[in-house]
Amino acid sequence: MKQTTVVQHVQQQEKKILGATGEFASLINGILVGAKIIALEINKAGIGGDILGATGTRNVYGEAVQKLDDLANSTFLSIISKSGTVCAITSEEMENPVIIPPEQAGKYVFMMDPLDGSSNIDVNVSTGTIFSIYRKKSLGDTVTDQDLLQKGTDQVAAGYVVYGSSTMFVYSSGHGVHGFTLDPSLGEFILSHPDIRIPERGNIYSINEGNTENWEDKQKKFVSYLKKMDKASGRPYKARYVGSFVSDFHRNLLKGGIFMYPSDAKNPSGKLRFEFEAGPMAFIAENAGGRASTGRERILDIAPTNIHQCVPLYIGSRFDVEAAEEFLKN
Ligand code: AHG
Ligand code: MN
Ligand code: MN
Repeated sequence: MKQTTVVQHVQQQEKKILGATGEFASLINGILVGAKIIALEINKAGIGGDILGATGTRNVYGEAVQKLDDLANSTFLSIISKSGTVCAITSEEMENPVIIPPEQAGKYVFMMDPLDGSSNIDVNVSTGTIFSIYRKKSLGDTVTDQDLLQKGTDQVAAGYVVYGSSTMFVYSSGHGVHGFTLDPSLGEFILSHPDIRIPERGNIYSINEGNTENWEDKQKKFVSYLKKMDKASGRPYKARYVGSFVSDFHRNLLKGGIFMYPSDAKNPSGKLRFEFEAGPMAFIAENAGGRASTGRERILDIAPTNIHQCVPLYIGSRFDVEAAEEFLKN
């Protein structure tokens, strides 16, 4: 076969990861199995049984939990926790980390947003899964905050799955960003987007503009600037906002542009979570030549103080994120 599968690709990349021994490839393989299960469930949502809608409960952030959030969380949890590759798993959908007993544990820490954009499931709009992988840092068997609250730059790898018009897996282990498309007839992810580079500058902005009244003035001015006519700098930009971060990010990664979830009067730290959304996507963006910041600070320089910490987020093409930072200054 001429085509490259993810596993073949990861095995190649693994040679470049310091200290990798095959455990990394097994972990990625676990994610792929989970992704295929979720993709199948999402594809039949609407016909198959009782899978659509909310569970009636709320997560740590007070958001309504969808049945598919629960299913995705338990699917990845059960596969990854048994993979022998991780010592702890944190998830947007779980208040506390799951610690793997030492006899079944491996050297990585796994963090996930099992189903991103889940409120879009019921209306057949794309969703995703986001993950981040760190190495256990503390010595000994106990998992400590040193392992669970690491700085963004310490990520070994990060990536996401888009459940869209096709299912795609995109990841980086610090050596470029690579995209694979699921061939449903083979059940394999095939390399379709090698070495993705985000355009230096885009012409798309993605933000929930319904929140305008809650923004600080500088934020309002930046969005007004993007909408002003100026041929030389390619303005006005196009507005594109799906409401699934994975889908919005993926489109901007391929086409160029900026995604923003700023701090506002209602959410002073923004809405997106450092460990499960902002951190992993910042790792992808930077590895594709893009930029990610809170508007004032590089995302990857943040070390969270709690696993559910939110951060304001400006992410995408380098030039566009720098322009936002310029507006937010002083
Ligand atoms: P999740 O479904 O994992 O809770 O994430 C939802 C997030 C993200 O996907 C999206 O960009 C953002 O929430 C949308 O928020 P608003 O509805 O406030 O625009
Ligand atoms: Mn999410
Ligand atoms: Mn989620």
